[in-house]
Amino acid sequence: MSQLIVLGVQWGDEGKGKIIDFLTEFTNIVVRFQGGGNAGHTLIVDGKKTVLHLMPSGILHNKVVSLIANGVVTDLKLLSEEINNLSQNNIKVTKDNFQISYNTHLILPYHKLIDKYREERRNNKIGTTQKGIGPAYEDKVARRGIRFQDFLNKERFDKLLKRNIDYYNFQFEYYFGKDKINYNDIVAESDFLREFFAEYGKDTTLTLHNATLKGENILLEGAQGTLLDIDHGTYPYVTSSNTTSGGGIIGTGHATYSQTSVLGVFKAYTTRVGEGPFPTELHDEIGELIAKNGHEVGATTGRARRVGWLDLVALKYAIRINGLTSLAITKLDVLSGLDKIKVAVAYKYEGENLNSFTNNIEILNKVEPIYQSYDAWDNSLPLDSIRVYEDLPENAKKFIKALESMLEIPIEIVSVGPDRRETIVINNPFR
Ligand code: IMP
Repeated sequence: MSQLIVLGVQWGDEGKGKIIDFLTEFTNIVVRFQGGGNAGHTLIVDGKKTVLHLMPSGILHNKVVSLIANGVVTDLKLLSEEINNLSQNNIKVTKDNFQISYNTHLILPYHKLIDKYREERRNNKIGTTQKGIGPAYEDKVARRGIRFQDFLNKERFDKLLKRNIDYYNFQFEYYFGKDKINYNDIVAESDFLREFFAEYGKDTTLTLHNATLKGENILLEGAQGTLLDIDHGTYPYVTSSNTTSGGGIIGTGHATYSQTSVLGVFKAYTTRVGEGPFPTELHDEIGELIAKNGHEVGATTGRARRVGWLDLVALKYAIRINGLTSLAITKLDVLSGLDKIKVAVAYKYEGENLNSFTNNIEILNKVEPIYQSYDAWDNSLPLDSIRVYEDLPENAKKFIKALESMLEIPIEIVSVGPDRRETIVINNPFR
């Protein structure tokens, strides 16, 4: 096994950061391959909390090299703040443990502004994180984007920046009726950032290729989740990148198909931030209790997350679209003490049973989930104190076995608390 892609397989916030941080002990390289500062990966090690938005979760391990690969859209200002924060916590980021692909596209101040102005104007809001993600990917596809390699060449960057500022200022002034942005301000900030980041630039496809030749392990760290994928998610209520396993290959240029496994991370229930369909959403006191016990507040936006039951129709779709080889279930502890746990096994639509997921949002907004109920377990034994599968309460084991049998792939990891140690490994996907 040399490459493991770890993905969220719901609408993001599945607890990937924690699983990735745990698995990092068994790998040499951790790579972000899509998305940008819209992600929020919360890691808790020995009770100490770190929230990363752009920096790969591997950075907390000193033996690991962390990469930002070509598929990411990178906000260098945000990244410099993250690096300074880490350094204040004695985590040093140097060219020996961190590299940025020359081909990553940059998020510049005009991307964040237009993301905000558009969201303000939309009647049907998407609820974006306003981090400039969509506009930066648009520029990339329109061949107007500015890559990290362009940025490192001052003369080239200044020319491209001027062209793009003219383009955006026209829209700010005449379409949105907003203030224009100032070229000189962005140039001044960029000169500082160029010096800060110059040493990290690399052809990361070569780093990955050479690591594979040496027999090293690589972990590709997904951000957001399958149902937010630009092609396969609940469009248009999606993010602007491929959050699915194919995005891992495009977003790194490292196509070691025969040596790649794909681990899907899902919560024992479902959450969603932002707008869009959510068939199993709860609007009652059980939903409120799960949200409270699970601390369901966005790490990037601080917004309250919408909460609902686990949806196996959606999960089976994610297994198929990603070619998942195994699963990790997180936040099982949050369900402790409930009376019953429900799981959607099919949908009802216009009187008919619907067994497969659809990204037709008109249908998805109208489906009625068909639930199966499971007995929960009481609070007498805190799940977060358990380290081996056999010690889990009988009903928790029955629940996991029932999921495995319906989903037809193994659950290899069970997360029972936010700390790195609060993890039960049934089978290590790296072994
Ligand atoms: P954008 O990625 O900022 O363009 O936002 C598009 C949609 O994806 C919105 O519904 C966001 O709430 C959602 N989204 C983006 N990043 C994340 C994440 O890391 N977790 C959960 N939802 C996200």
